[in-house]
Amino acid sequence: MSVMLLLAAAYLLGSVPFAIVSSRLFGLQDPRTYGSGNPGATNVLRSGNKGAAVVTLFGDCAKGWLAVWAALQLGFAAPEAALAGLAAFLGHVFTIFLRFNGGKGVATALGVLAGIDWRIALASLGIWLLVAFISRYSSAAALAAAAAAPIAGYLFLGGVPVIAVLLAMSAILIWRHAANIQRLFAGTEGRIGGKKT
Ligand code: G3P
Repeated sequence: MSVMLLLAAAYLLGSVPFAIVSSRLFGLQDPRTYGSGNPGATNVLRSGNKGAAVVTLFGDCAKGWLAVWAALQLGFAAPEAALAGLAAFLGHVFTIFLRFNGGKGVATALGVLAGIDWRIALASLGIWLLVAFISRYSSAAALAAAAAAPIAGYLFLGGVPVIAVLLAMSAILIWRHAANIQRLFAGTEGRIGGKKT
């Protein structure tokens, strides 16, 4: 398999919007019509249906991990596998199935990190949990975890090309949270588990 085919397949895999899929499975409203409007686990949780939020979280995370894992199984080198993870992440954020307007990439990035090196994923997840526990803001937790991921990557792996993928994912993830950052500063950001409006 060529690298281009690998990246295209990973992009398509990442494009599957589990927030929409799980909402349909559970008979819920489209998550783009309430709360933050984001097709992601945090916003699906605002529907009040924890099962749908868990399915979204698991599905979005698993597709990121699967892209990296499958690439490695197919014999691709670590930098190419990391690029496959980035392609899956881009698929989630710019999904072809939602007119290139997808989610913010937090769960998918975690899956990609887990595929690259479980220690980086664990460190980022730890930061996410800590900030989420203290602040109750999913977005603040994601921003802190995104900032931590390339640092953890450098500490665990050193200056390898894979770090460029981590930096790119974090930069895009932070950019996708622009509206959340504005709401955090304005004091209007919704807390985890808040009601949909
Ligand atoms: O995973 C996305 C999260 O960081 C923010 O979600 O719905 O509050 O914009 P939301």
